[in-house]
Amino acid sequence: MSVTPANNIVGAFIHDVQIADCTDSDLAVIKQAFVDHGVVFLRDQQLTPEQHIAFAQRWSEINVNRFFTPVATNPVIAEVRKEPHQTKNIGEAWHTDHSYDQVPAMGSMLYAREVPPVGGDTLFACQYAAYEALSPGMQQTLAGLRALHSSRHVFGADAAIGNDGPKYENAELAMQDAIHPVVIRNPRSGRPALYVNSDFTVRFDGWSVAESRPLLEQLYAHCGRAEFVYRFSWEVGSMAIWDNQAVMHLAVNDYHGYRRLMHRITLEGVPFEPFVAGT
Ligand code: SIN
Repeated sequence: MSVTPANNIVGAFIHDVQIADCTDSDLAVIKQAFVDHGVVFLRDQQLTPEQHIAFAQRWSEINVNRFFTPVATNPVIAEVRKEPHQTKNIGEAWHTDHSYDQVPAMGSMLYAREVPPVGGDTLFACQYAAYEALSPGMQQTLAGLRALHSSRHVFGADAAIGNDGPKYENAELAMQDAIHPVVIRNPRSGRPALYVNSDFTVRFDGWSVAESRPLLEQLYAHCGRAEFVYRFSWEVGSMAIWDNQAVMHLAVNDYHGYRRLMHRITLEGVPFEPFVAGT
């Protein structure tokens, strides 16, 4: 097997391995590439749902998503589905999965089962690079801030989901919020990463929503800048595994009239700390 960088900033392709039966040393290479590049891509994977689950369990416990429709036969797998009649998709704004949780998911494993003939790519943005590109003054300002993340406005009872969008489950479970540092130390790489996202971040801790909005909007625009991004085009059998504390992602919604069906397993995370310069 071999590893080749996707571009100079983020992502790597893993070649010549089937994850369904990879050896422990193959897995160690894949995990190291995940730490080094933030997201890894594998093509042409032959994977049953049971093999997907077994592979995920070699990384961590599975963190079952509370809101996505589960796969009927394997409920620890979440469906990321868009039907031909739907105009909205899941994940069309920059986000990291589960940032509304006290201990957000470490990573996500997304496997393509059905893809449109063109379109439906996913963008990944390196949040180490986003942090490094800020001025020292802005880095210092953000290092002192924490932000509130919530699932209520996305998955809760008041979330505005029409018939043309994805169906979410368990609105009553969208009750918890979480406060995280705006600049975190990634627990696997030790590197500083920006950690706010336009889906789930609501405001800075101790600030009002109105006070927070201008700086958050500026950060959202910065975090997704083209030079921090790799754009991945899916084929049936492609797998992406990303680190939610290293990258943000965005599912491009440009394939109306076609079905796109992905299976996602979310991996349990560990608590993370604020990044403190010089430590
Ligand atoms: C997600 O946000 O986890 C889904 C990404 C995708 O469908 O490409």
